[in-house]
Amino acid sequence: MVEQTRVAMPAQAPAKPPAQLKAVRGMHDILPADSARWQWLEGCARDLLAGYGYREIRMPLVEQTGLFRRSIGEVTDIVEKEMYSFEDRGGDHLSLRPEGTASCVRAAIEHGLLGQPQRLWYAGPMFRRERPQRGRYRQFHQIGVEVFGLSGPDIDLEQILLTRRLWEALGLTDLHLELNSLGDPADRVRYREDLVAYLDQYRDALDEDSLRRLATNPLRVLDSKNPLLRELIDAAPSLLDYLGSEARAHFDALCRGLEGAGLEVRINPRLVRGLDYYNRTVFEWVTDALGAQGAVCAGGRYDGLVEQLGGRATPAIGFAMGLERLLDLSAPSAADLKDAPDLYLVAVGEQAEARAVLVAEQVREQLPGVRLLCHCGGGSFKSQFKKADRSGAHFALVLGDEELAGGQVSVKPLRGEGAQESVALADLSRNLAGKLGL
Ligand code: HAM
Repeated sequence: MVEQTRVAMPAQAPAKPPAQLKAVRGMHDILPADSARWQWLEGCARDLLAGYGYREIRMPLVEQTGLFRRSIGEVTDIVEKEMYSFEDRGGDHLSLRPEGTASCVRAAIEHGLLGQPQRLWYAGPMFRRERPQRGRYRQFHQIGVEVFGLSGPDIDLEQILLTRRLWEALGLTDLHLELNSLGDPADRVRYREDLVAYLDQYRDALDEDSLRRLATNPLRVLDSKNPLLRELIDAAPSLLDYLGSEARAHFDALCRGLEGAGLEVRINPRLVRGLDYYNRTVFEWVTDALGAQGAVCAGGRYDGLVEQLGGRATPAIGFAMGLERLLDLSAPSAADLKDAPDLYLVAVGEQAEARAVLVAEQVREQLPGVRLLCHCGGGSFKSQFKKADRSGAHFALVLGDEELAGGQVSVKPLRGEGAQESVALADLSRNLAGKLGL
């Protein structure tokens, strides 16, 4: 009977293994083997920014889509093509933030931070649906800086010198600074007219994107990556020739300051940046070592944005750096960064295993700052020692039933010279403090 039933059943196709789940294209995990390098970079930046009086602000990763449209600009690659935008279940139009400036301005207005000058910084992921390649990701990380309420060229100079100091701290030597001034709005209106007249003569040579931009946002044409337009763009009128007296004086004072600080600058009149909110100073730190994605840090002044987003007129300047690109350029290896524990506690035997976590707690209590990895899950001495060694720890603490009964623990150096030593449990932390210099 049973046999018959079995024969009558349709043959079952072998179960297909479920498709392996993968991270979204262009979005990457930062694995434990790499996280020490990230922490090192973030730590260097955090310490330096504190030294210049900057305070951290943390904004949400999601904002109203309108915030980015109104600040970055409708006719920009980011807003036109790259935002992750969606309607949430309540019908709100939201976007993953493609950058931090707009959110920071929104937060500063919303929380009334603009009554006095503010030096702020933030760190975190940004999202742009660009074509992924080396140095260009769909989720990437920035550390950004925004200053509100200061209009003079001194703060522009300070920000640029701050970045130079950071490159020194990070050991980066092959970066150069590109600088331009986008002038004030009235300067750009005059420039825009002449630029349109110039580009109009070459309509036939312009690609589709540039023709569209010529009608909507002609300065963006200067930003074109099309190599066929390079020559034409290089010969276009230069915005620097259109600066009014105030923007000119601001730019000249900044250039003098940079010269006084011994910083070599490449003035690049084609540097217009990919976001619409800038005026006057714009700059980028660029390297040749990363191929096409050479900008590691970029920013500038955006004196009109706070008012444009509903706040009272407040001058502002900031920049952001791409952490993936900086890490690609230079960072100590994970092995050079102190990622390994100081101690690895090995415990074999019923009593010892039961006590191991408590002994570890006692050491942590008495030696604040110690890095102690307590073996959990049992196993032979041999296998535990292998793990202790692989962890990179300096010493193994060896706890066996016999040692425990005698109130002792063995301390065995895993790196360099030195013999194993038996230490009274009561004396363990003092002994280790001496060995580890804690
Ligand atoms: P941004 O030039 O769009 O400016 O980005 C700043 C930096 O972020 C770039 O120089 C680059 O290092 C990094 N970055 C941008 N896109 C990607 C990507 N897809 N993959 C990897 N890294 C990338 C801003 O975001 C402005 N909010 C900067 C600013 C702050 N201006 C004033 N205040």
